[in-house]
Amino acid sequence: MSNIAQWEEAEVKRSSAEASHVDLNSLRINNTQRYMNPLESTPYPLEYCCCLLGDVRGKTVLDLGCGTGENTLILSLRGATVHSLDISQELVDLAKKRLEINNASAANVHFMVGSAHEIDLPDESVDVVFWHSDLASLGSKSRVEGSFPDSEEGWTCDLPGARTRFGGDSFCPRVDTLHRS
Ligand SMILES: C[S@@+](CC[C@H](N)C(=O)[O-])C[C@H]1O[C@@H](n2cnc3c(N)ncnc32)[C@H](O)[C@@H]1O
Repeated sequence: MSNIAQWEEAEVKRSSAEASHVDLNSLRINNTQRYMNPLESTPYPLEYCCCLLGDVRGKTVLDLGCGTGENTLILSLRGATVHSLDISQELVDLAKKRLEINNASAANVHFMVGSAHEIDLPDESVDVVFWHSDLASLGSKSRVEGSFPDSEEGWTCDLPGARTRFGGDSFCPRVDTLHRS
């Protein structure tokens, strides 16, 4: 079995365990307004990502490794069409639940369960890839530059036409690694 397949197998198990501990009440986001138009000087990584992301109304965004869908909710509230991909069915189910709990429409959100190494989307169909928090199975050194050239780990995300953002790790925010295009 390849390294990637091993990582992914372990990640599916880890994600499933994570999902089983999620309290549904924690899926509610009381203040979504803070992510709509945050200041560049904000010390909060996700607000900063949203600031750098700019206006996504009418854009198609891939939320790569969407987890329980915090970013999916925010992106959809900001007016994007969102493709939300995660390797864990359980986490995707929670992401769907998050939309429901927050009374958000799912009309502009398309969930996918699968590997970030095999993204089932046509070329030129995504404007922005939003990648907030590390994807362990892509390797901790993976960085996204330009339109996804091979990373140090040899990972290629073949989504021609996509503008990218890299959000770093929630536990160790590296907001300085965000790129402007
Ligand atoms: C650290 S969590 C971040 C979740 C979410 N983006 C956030 O910021 O709250 C990383 C997510 O990536 C998913 N993931 C990890 N490796 C993946 C892979 N190879 N393909 C697809 N999803 C993956 C995990 O299941 C997990 O939900």
